[in-house]
Amino acid sequence: MNTILLNKISDVKKTVKEWKKSGYSIGFVPTMGALHAGHASLIKKAKETADKVIVSIFVNPIQFCQGEDLDKYPKTLEEDAKLCNEIGVDVIFAPSPKEMYGENVKLNNNELTFVCPPFNIVDCMCGKSRIGHFDGVATVVLKLFNITQPDYAFFGQKDAQQLFILKKMVKDLNLDVEIIPCPLVREQDGLALSSRNTYLSTEERNQALTISKALFYIRELYNKGICDTSVLFDSAISVLDKNIDIEYLEFRNFDTLDKTNEAKDNTLVAIAVKVGKTRLIDNIIL
Ligand code: PAJ
Repeated sequence: MNTILLNKISDVKKTVKEWKKSGYSIGFVPTMGALHAGHASLIKKAKETADKVIVSIFVNPIQFCQGEDLDKYPKTLEEDAKLCNEIGVDVIFAPSPKEMYGENVKLNNNELTFVCPPFNIVDCMCGKSRIGHFDGVATVVLKLFNITQPDYAFFGQKDAQQLFILKKMVKDLNLDVEIIPCPLVREQDGLALSSRNTYLSTEERNQALTISKALFYIRELYNKGICDTSVLFDSAISVLDKNIDIEYLEFRNFDTLDKTNEAKDNTLVAIAVKVGKTRLIDNIIL
């Protein structure tokens, strides 16, 4: 099979219209490219679920804050296309920023309509330091849903807050798409797969390994009956490499994102750190 690469919104819409006419269901996997086995797991799930699969590859400028890595975000379109082809993706949609947002449009809410998820769920966890990030994510995902008209859309639990916000957007805006959450995929040594791992030096990668070690230690203690989150927090901090800057380590209900002081089954333990200049996130669900 040959994956088709489309850059124009109108071409995707035309293809989607034909598929709908033939009665095919559509699975959609939005990505920013630099695909790895985590992305591949979502794409494979989409293949199992739907008749036709679209993967978008778009480094979305409106979800990057000032000083973040928009300009150096890894771009590996050729390898990405090869992987998509191997898995049997029907269409890759890889638009330019101009195609998505128009020419000479300032990418702010003076000139562009934004989707703004509720403040209480963006003003916490990753949203606390990444101001406007989730408005940018929700906006691009709604645009991509409108372009690709999916029956199913696949998102990783690695980005637990993103998944929660997008589920809420689908519910609040009555979108006709089923969000399918997919488990977090790790390297063999435990490091959560991320396109940003390519920024890490060997030394930083070794430091980053202590992130999942800390989370696994929390799980081990929880399984022994320790539920007090302040005890679990302190124990995890003692495992983390001292060179790592912790942005947050929080215990929340995975379904509601409410904070909790007592770990239970279904508690999300989420962490965000900086290793050198690289921001990494990881989580486990107890
Ligand atoms: P990106 O970081 O490329 O991730 C695309 C999808 O892959 C997301 O749903 C993310 O949760 C999932 N993913 C990333 N690493 C994973 C891992 N190790 N295991 C399982 N799933 C993983 O998330 C985005 O892009 C963007 O914000 C996007 C939704 C495309 C909007 O621009």
